[in-house]
Amino acid sequence: MSVIPWVPSPNNIVKKMLQIAQVGQEDVVCDLGSGDARLLIAAVEEFKAKKGIGYELREYLYQASLREIEKRNLGDKIELHKRNLYEADLTGVSVVTLYLSNEANNLLRPKLERELRYGTRVISLIFKIDNWQTNSLTWGGDVPDFRMPPLYGFAYLYYPIYLYTIPDAFK
Ligand SMILES: C[S@@+](CC[C@H](N)C(=O)[O-])C[C@H]1O[C@@H](n2cnc3c(N)ncnc32)[C@H](O)[C@@H]1O
Repeated sequence: MSVIPWVPSPNNIVKKMLQIAQVGQEDVVCDLGSGDARLLIAAVEEFKAKKGIGYELREYLYQASLREIEKRNLGDKIELHKRNLYEADLTGVSVVTLYLSNEANNLLRPKLERELRYGTRVISLIFKIDNWQTNSLTWGGDVPDFRMPPLYGFAYLYYPIYLYTIPDAFK
């Protein structure tokens, strides 16, 4: 499987993802491949989520995230694991966020189907989850400028955000 790079979600897109998931104080938000933890920080600070859980394998990102969490005094709210996201413990999680790849989403799908409880929202940035029905597709970026030629990576300008809800996604 191809290695997934660290490409941080822009902060306005982070907010949009959390809004679409309707994150609130009852939620436990899990970012699989949490990068610099920006989504988890926004979830607990701005959206008042009960808890944020991150899985991040890259050492420098894991360490940078820990430092930022400590600086913001969020140690009791955000739990970070330097661990493979395919081994994540999803117990009690009510919102899962993904910014990975199509291939990774499809590899994750059986685990999500087995382990997520009813009512959980899954938000995936850019990449859809094949064979699942989406509740909504929102374009997070600016309105597409159709004068632009379709350059490599052009889809990133538009930031498609897919929302799935368990178990509607399986219908
Ligand atoms: C595209 S970035 C998204 C980062 C963050 N979720 C965000 O939205 O800003 C994907 C992240 O997943 C991490 N990652 C990739 N494969 C992983 C794996 N198997 N286990 C844990 N983290 C992984 C990468 O190191 C990278 O930080």
